[in-house]
Amino acid sequence: MKKKKIVVFTGAGISAESGLKTFRDSGGLWEEYKVEDVATPEAWLDNPVRVLEFYNMRRRQAVGAKPNPAHLALVQLETIYDVQIITQNIDDLHEKAGSKKILHLHGEINKCRSSIDDSLIYPVKGTDLKMGQLCEKNSQLRPHIVWFGEFVPMMEHANILASSADIFIIIGTSLNVYPAAGLVNFVPEKVPKYLIDPQGVSKDYIPNLNINRKKAGVGVPELVKNLLK
Ligand code: APR
Repeated sequence: MKKKKIVVFTGAGISAESGLKTFRDSGGLWEEYKVEDVATPEAWLDNPVRVLEFYNMRRRQAVGAKPNPAHLALVQLETIYDVQIITQNIDDLHEKAGSKKILHLHGEINKCRSSIDDSLIYPVKGTDLKMGQLCEKNSQLRPHIVWFGEFVPMMEHANILASSADIFIIIGTSLNVYPAAGLVNFVPEKVPKYLIDPQGVSKDYIPNLNINRKKAGVGVPELVKNLLK
C-alpha cells in the first residue's frame, strides 16, 4: 500500500535547542548583524571578507551541533510515512539525524559555489571559506546560500511537494520570509496542518491548522508519537 505523505517545513526554531541561533527572536542573529551587511548580493560585492566571516562563524557552530529530539523524532515518522523535509535552514541537522528526503530552500552551509556559475557547487574544505579560493573557472567561491533579493531556485519544486502532502507540519519558523513562507498556500485546504512553535501565532490564512506552542524538542516528539499510533 502507498504510504501517506508527510511534508515537514522547518525553520531556525527546530535547531535552537541544538545551540544554533534563530534570526528574529530576541538575541537572534538579526539583532547582532544587519541583513544588508552580510546576507545580500550587494554585501558580497561591497565587503566579501565580512560576508565570508559571517558564514564561517555559522559553519563553525553548525559543525559542532548535534540533532535534538525534534530532528530525531521526524526520522521515526519514516517507519510508516513517506516523509519529505523542506527546510529553510542551512545547517545539516536533518542530515545528521538521518532523514532521507531533505530539500534545502535557502542553501547549505557546508557547500560553496562559483560566483559566476551557479551550477558549480563544491563542499567547503575545512570550516572556513577564504578569499582566494577559486572555482574551476577561476572566480571566487561564495557561500552556497540564497541571499535576500536572490531567486530561490528550489521554490517551485518545494511548492509541488507541498501540494501533494497528506499531512503538513510546520516547525520553528516565523513565516516572515517570502517566497518560502508562501509554501503553506500550496497545501490543499482539507489537509491537516500542525504548527509547533512557542510563538506560533494564529494564522487565519492557513485552513485546518492545529497550533502547539511548545519548543520543538518537546512538541515534535509528542506529535510524532500521535501520528505513529
Ligand atoms: N522550538 C520551536 N520553535 C522555536 C524555538 C524552539 N525551541 N525557539 C524559537 N522558535 C521559533 C520562534 O518562535 C520563531 O517563530 O522559531 C522561529 C524562528 O523564526 P526566524 O528567526 O524568523 O527564523 P526562520 O523563520 O527560519 O527565518 C526564515 O529568514 O533570515 C532568513 O534565510 C533566513 O531561513 C531564514 C529565513
